[in-house]
Amino acid sequence: MKRIETEFTKMMGIDYPIIGAPMFLISYEELAAAVSEAGGMGAIPLPNFRTTEELKKTLIKIRERTDKPIGVNIHLSGRFDWKEQLGLCLEAGVKFFISSLGDPRLILDDVHASGGRVFADVINLEQALKARERGVDGLVAVACGAGGHCGEIPTIILVPYLKSKTGLPVIAAGGISTGAQMAAAMAIGACAVVVGTRLVATTESRALTEYKKAVVQAGPEDIVCTDRITGNRATWIAKSIESFDRQPHVRSKRWREFWSAGQSVAQVDEIKSAAEVIREMVQNYHEACKRLVSSIDPGKA
Ligand SMILES: Cc1cc2nc3c(=O)[nH]c(=O)nc-3n(C[C@H](O)[C@H](O)[C@H](O)COP(=O)(O)O)c2cc1C
Repeated sequence: MKRIETEFTKMMGIDYPIIGAPMFLISYEELAAAVSEAGGMGAIPLPNFRTTEELKKTLIKIRERTDKPIGVNIHLSGRFDWKEQLGLCLEAGVKFFISSLGDPRLILDDVHASGGRVFADVINLEQALKARERGVDGLVAVACGAGGHCGEIPTIILVPYLKSKTGLPVIAAGGISTGAQMAAAMAIGACAVVVGTRLVATTESRALTEYKKAVVQAGPEDIVCTDRITGNRATWIAKSIESFDRQPHVRSKRWREFWSAGQSVAQVDEIKSAAEVIREMVQNYHEACKRLVSSIDPGKA
């Protein structure tokens, strides 16, 4: 299918500006490699791995499946041995790093020296300006309603706001499950989108089958946003957290028991392969763009 060219696809050498979200306990080699092979960019969150040996094995498995670009979410808070993680990722040819929790300056030089890019997860202008000051290459605008830890500002406001105030490339995260939604993100200035919730309900995701089914069955009204579970605002399928009794910090067991998903469950109607999701998104993107062109120039439709 026809490539979609943006600042991000050119920067990364990929066909489509679709990043498969690095999702805790969900995104491993199967999902990341499938998204990259389909022309997007798959990504894994490094907190999935308790030891560097586990990470090393996963990176090897990814490279057995694909030689295309992949990304990672790296936590720089000091809780993880980020130096060793970084070394392994660079060795495996990882070119895209989404930094969260901590100072991205710790990794900028090494990533740049290997030809990679560092984008920072941000939810507001204050965080975006701080990230720019620290020298990141771009921002991931995490909006309200996104799966996982989410922001408070809708995608449609946050993306153009951060882009105009910082001048940095901005990737939209939150509420994007279809190609038409991706076209909307491009229209407001995004150079790519991060797709999380849609990919939870794929054959390659490590979510439990009941969790995948719950994502398909849920509507946006079934999603609650609360800081009760992890201490930070995050979105959950309401039913899955009914039994939660307040605890200060979530353990990974909790993440398995409690199912995070964003409001874009609204557009998730079937468990599919990641390749199908990407293919349909791209097709739907082209159709949406054609509709827009025909609305201003019926002759060109
Ligand atoms: C179950 C789940 C786990 C997530 N875990 C992480 C994570 O570990 N690191 C990260 O950077 N983002 C994580 N996210 C957030 C995604 O990267 C992304 O910002 C979000 O899913 C985009 O919104 P969407 O779900 O509406 O597509 C997670 C999202 C979900 C649904």
